[in-house]
Amino acid sequence: MPDFTRRQLLKSGLAASATSLLPATPLPAQPTPAAPTQNPALPAALPRERLRLDRGWRFRLGDACDPAKDLRFGATARERVFAKSGSIAQATPSLDDSTWASVDLPHDWAEDLPFIAVPPTWEHGGKPLGREFPATSIGWYRRTFSLAPEDHDRRIQLVFDGVYRDATVLLNGHYIAQNFSGYAPFVLDITDWVNTGAPNVLAVRVDATLGDGWFYEGAGIYRHVWLLKTAPVHLVEWGSFVRPAVDEPSIRRGTPALVALGSEVHNASDADRLVMVQWQLHDPAGVLVATAQSGRIVVPVDTTVLFEASATLPHPALWSIETPQLYRATVTVLAGDQPLDSDTVPFGVRSLRFDPDRGLFLNGRPVKVQGTCCHQDHAGVGTALPDRLQFYRIERLKSMGSNALRTSHNPPTPELMDATDRLGMLVLCETRMMDSSPEGLSQLERMVRRFRNHPSIFMWSLGNEEPEQGTERGQRIVAAMQRLAHRLDPTRLCTVAMNEKQGTGISYIVDVQGFNYSDDRTPGFHAKFPAKPVLGTETASTVCTRGIYANDKAAGYVSAYDLNKPGWGNTAEEWWSFYDSHEFLMGGFAWTGFDYRGEPTPYGLPCVSSHFGIMDTCGFPKDNYFYYKAWWGKDPVLHLFPHWNWPDKSGQPIAVWCHTNLDSVELFLNGRSLGARTVARNRHIEWSVPYEPGVLEARGSVAGKVVLTQRRETTGPPAKIVLHPDRPTLAADGEDLAVLAVEVQDDQGRTMPTALNDIRFEVTGARLLGLGNGDPSSHESDKADHRRVFNGWAQALVQASETPGVVTVRATSPGLESATLTLTATAAAPRPAVA
Ligand code: GAL
Repeated sequence: MPDFTRRQLLKSGLAASATSLLPATPLPAQPTPAAPTQNPALPAALPRERLRLDRGWRFRLGDACDPAKDLRFGATARERVFAKSGSIAQATPSLDDSTWASVDLPHDWAEDLPFIAVPPTWEHGGKPLGREFPATSIGWYRRTFSLAPEDHDRRIQLVFDGVYRDATVLLNGHYIAQNFSGYAPFVLDITDWVNTGAPNVLAVRVDATLGDGWFYEGAGIYRHVWLLKTAPVHLVEWGSFVRPAVDEPSIRRGTPALVALGSEVHNASDADRLVMVQWQLHDPAGVLVATAQSGRIVVPVDTTVLFEASATLPHPALWSIETPQLYRATVTVLAGDQPLDSDTVPFGVRSLRFDPDRGLFLNGRPVKVQGTCCHQDHAGVGTALPDRLQFYRIERLKSMGSNALRTSHNPPTPELMDATDRLGMLVLCETRMMDSSPEGLSQLERMVRRFRNHPSIFMWSLGNEEPEQGTERGQRIVAAMQRLAHRLDPTRLCTVAMNEKQGTGISYIVDVQGFNYSDDRTPGFHAKFPAKPVLGTETASTVCTRGIYANDKAAGYVSAYDLNKPGWGNTAEEWWSFYDSHEFLMGGFAWTGFDYRGEPTPYGLPCVSSHFGIMDTCGFPKDNYFYYKAWWGKDPVLHLFPHWNWPDKSGQPIAVWCHTNLDSVELFLNGRSLGARTVARNRHIEWSVPYEPGVLEARGSVAGKVVLTQRRETTGPPAKIVLHPDRPTLAADGEDLAVLAVEVQDDQGRTMPTALNDIRFEVTGARLLGLGNGDPSSHESDKADHRRVFNGWAQALVQASETPGVVTVRATSPGLESATLTLTATAAAPRPAVA
């Protein structure tokens, strides 16, 4: 939303609340309440509607060079695209899109493109996007929709959660807006151009030729789109804040929390309006626990006014990583007794303290940040993730004991922040562009306004490894960005992820010093800047391939022992033992939680994905997952590797490792002890074992008593397929998702750890959304109906239809016993959507 007038309005309306972590700023003046007058009689306002605009789009590729293949958009000089209002043919019924593909959002067209022989592996994970590929870098979307006659007097807005990238939005022949960023959300008021009682043609030309990043970014309308209908006098989208003020003394004493409330109201009606705003706060059980109301203020025509009030929560239930309790504020605009608009804002109550010597305190308790950086793509879907997959990914990260996520390197999709709020995970939320240009500030502003009420976000990140990080110009840029972030959200600190020059340039500006790598320089920095908290914004970059135990450049695989890293990186053991032993370090974010497409380090083709993930692109654990689970989690862990199928290595030494947090482990091969090893904090243990087939067994002890054992057995050949769903039922709402782990076992039910069988899937009662296997060198299509398992495992994403009933997934492969899985799709109302 490149909407600078709104920013100027905001400048006059932001209040520092008692939760502020920053020096108090003087309270700006409130708009002066006008002498109460009577409103002229207003027609009864229809309740606001927020409708999904995901279904029923038409899509086709355009062309960045050849206008004849680009819907003739501006094909000749005579077309003068922008010369007259309303003459853009590509967004009128005169253009026939009936032969275009039917697609639903979220949609990533890069996911559907084939891999090509010499692709740009680094940026786009082997998919042909960019100036060299004009025929596959432009996408056209069209959606025809109708509005009822009674919508005539309402405001109609479109909310785009994210489009990659450079979106030109056209409606009914009119140019509406251009949005540059591939990640920042944007809102467009389209009221002036809509037809009510007649069809509307919305067209979006998406140009993915240029890049925002250096990793796989997908292409297209890959997040949700919403149609908002409100009264002319309405709450501004992202214009509300709810800021509970608790601190450690108040938590200890159990005193009530004061909540600062603010909501912007815009008047798009034809007369000045006298209105007030009411807030109702509901506790995590849904009980109304506090109310507040503003004064009555005149909102002039075409003006936005910030209304403020405060409320008291008597016994605040705290949001934490373990108990992520969420409150809800219902905000209502009233003219007299008449409600005009109402919306809901989820929020949480928690305190944050950043101690430069002792790190982060959440609700008064020390929390070491055990985080991962994550890009946003997933196997089977690219960047177009169904909402449930966001929750699945956070669940996977939490299962290894991780408590924090960095949205590297861009504003996230809202559903990811819903997942971190609801499941309990701290978030370092990052903007894409470190710049104080109008575009850079606009991206930051949209991110902060959109996400500032999410309790999981504990800090904003303003940039990553920027060339200007050590310069005076960098200081000016970051100072402007940080001032804006603080104005919009006085409750959170800011950092920049710096990979060098820490202690110079923008180090003097940021609230918290971010370190990417260079762990050994952190103590020196701390000595020089003792008042500045230090966070490991990016660490590790350990490279591993799931189920592979020797580097293989030709295949593009790296061994899964915790040994390989690029020059700037560290192994899991190196970085975490360092951070764990330095109290001043707040903790850090390992690069990365999951493998992602692009950046195929250290080898190039055939590799098209990164190897940095602690899990692969499907979320299957690599061995390092158990390192983190052992030292981050609370449960006893004993993980023995590698597998024990080495027919070509008879008598040769095999490195056998354990990731464990037990006291000691004794290893046995075919019943013979190979000795016990004592476990040191944050370290693995290992043996060198001459290979012979059979049973390798680890027996782990605490205080001399065996508490866990784990076996690796030499298996037989692949014999059968087994399907493991993440849950047995699905909501038949057209969106819900089952994540199926597809396993190949031998005839005794043991995972066949080197299996590569091609499995074919048939799904009835739902749709097969996508397939993956975590193989970073796979060039198979995620949208086919078959996929090879990679080292014993693949993943199938099955999406519910809107019809309740039985969902059947059948998996077959020549020579293997097939598998049939039955899931239940239970009746569920689909979310309100545009017809
Ligand atoms: C960092 C960078 C990340 C990624 C990583 C790979 O320098 O911030 O985006 O490229 O290196 O190790």
